[in-house]
Amino acid sequence: MKIAVPVETEDTRVAATPDVVKRYVAAGADVAIQTGAGADSRITDQAYKDMGATIVASAAEAVDGADIILTVRRPSAEVLGAAKSGAFIIGALDPYGDREGLQAMADAGLSAVAMELMPRITRAQSMDILSSQANLAGYQAVIDAAATYDRAIPMMMTAAGTVPAARIFIMGAGVAGLQAIATARRLGGAVSATDVRPAAKEQVASLGAKFIAVENEEFKAAETAGGYAKEMSEDYRKQQAELVAAHIAKQDIVVTTALIPGRPAPKLITAEMVASMNPGSVIVDLAVERGGNVEGSVAGEVVTVGPATIIGYRNVPGRIAASASLLYAKNLYTFIDTVLLDKEKAFAPKWDDELLTATLLTRDGSLVHPNYGGTKPAAMAASAS
Ligand code: NAI
Repeated sequence: MKIAVPVETEDTRVAATPDVVKRYVAAGADVAIQTGAGADSRITDQAYKDMGATIVASAAEAVDGADIILTVRRPSAEVLGAAKSGAFIIGALDPYGDREGLQAMADAGLSAVAMELMPRITRAQSMDILSSQANLAGYQAVIDAAATYDRAIPMMMTAAGTVPAARIFIMGAGVAGLQAIATARRLGGAVSATDVRPAAKEQVASLGAKFIAVENEEFKAAETAGGYAKEMSEDYRKQQAELVAAHIAKQDIVVTTALIPGRPAPKLITAEMVASMNPGSVIVDLAVERGGNVEGSVAGEVVTVGPATIIGYRNVPGRIAASASLLYAKNLYTFIDTVLLDKEKAFAPKWDDELLTATLLTRDGSLVHPNYGGTKPAAMAASAS
């Protein structure tokens, strides 16, 4: 069995760390790493070599003859051209993105696994890249906000007077939001948060933050079986906006993380709300790549709009690449060990395993996922409902 790790051309993260290379090698695999693949995650070629990997010069050389190709993003043209038919390619393959890119993986004969579609069931928790990466994004968002905010965050009572605590509001209390709340609390902010899922209320309270939401009948039913938010009615969004508008005018830092799977991100902060903030306020829009929660946020940019700075960094987990790669690589290893290897660690894909049927986009030259262009029925998990 050969496992390949090409350089990511569009990301700072890497799909394997020395720790998982050691495990793959122990399972009997030959691991080929393209030189420099770990550089942005502070992993040297030598560190991979020490664990038994072979370092190769090009992506084509790495994937040549490989049974499994590990990536962070969709594969480059070079990888697609050099991969052998029937190889697995495993990564964050963006099933919602352009269909031609998915078709290209099918045409290359690859079995493409989109790790974003992992069912959110207990058995798969350790393979959940959305959680492992969102957690770090939530942390980093608060760190980025704190670095831009030019006042102190904690309350400081000094002989010269009292510096008030920064008021920090987290919108969307899923995985990223909860870590943002925890991080903001650790920095000493006065933290509040909102979400449309009723389950979030207790989680927010347990982290010591104040919960702000319109708690009507629609709110009580606003969660899918998969644990995700539903798109809310126009009426709910109007009531939510009114409540949020009054709250935001009093905040110093706002971090937005609200997403609805497969849909554009809900707009939660209007231009008027931005204009109502105090001078020097900071907003971080973690949903910016999915359309943004904030009017005026720009993907990949930091913009000043009236009194506020709006941070719209793309790929926030990639800003903390060494930590993000550590967890991402482990998610992939656990998936491979569970679904693609048998007890003797031989390559033996379990095609009927629900973790594979839920995540497999292409196989044998065709799109196979019923939600993303395929026609073959697959045992679908609730993840994309
Ligand atoms: P996400 O990234 O899809 O969305 C982020 C948050 O935005 C969610 O909490 C969502 O409810 C919220 N949101 C959506 N529309 C909103 C609006 N209009 N206003 C305010 N907030 C809005 O969700 P994420 O973070 O991936 O996880 C969602 C839930 O799934 C969480 O409760 C999480 O704990 C749970 N989960 C369960 C797992 C498991 O059982 N294995 C694994 C990971 C997460």
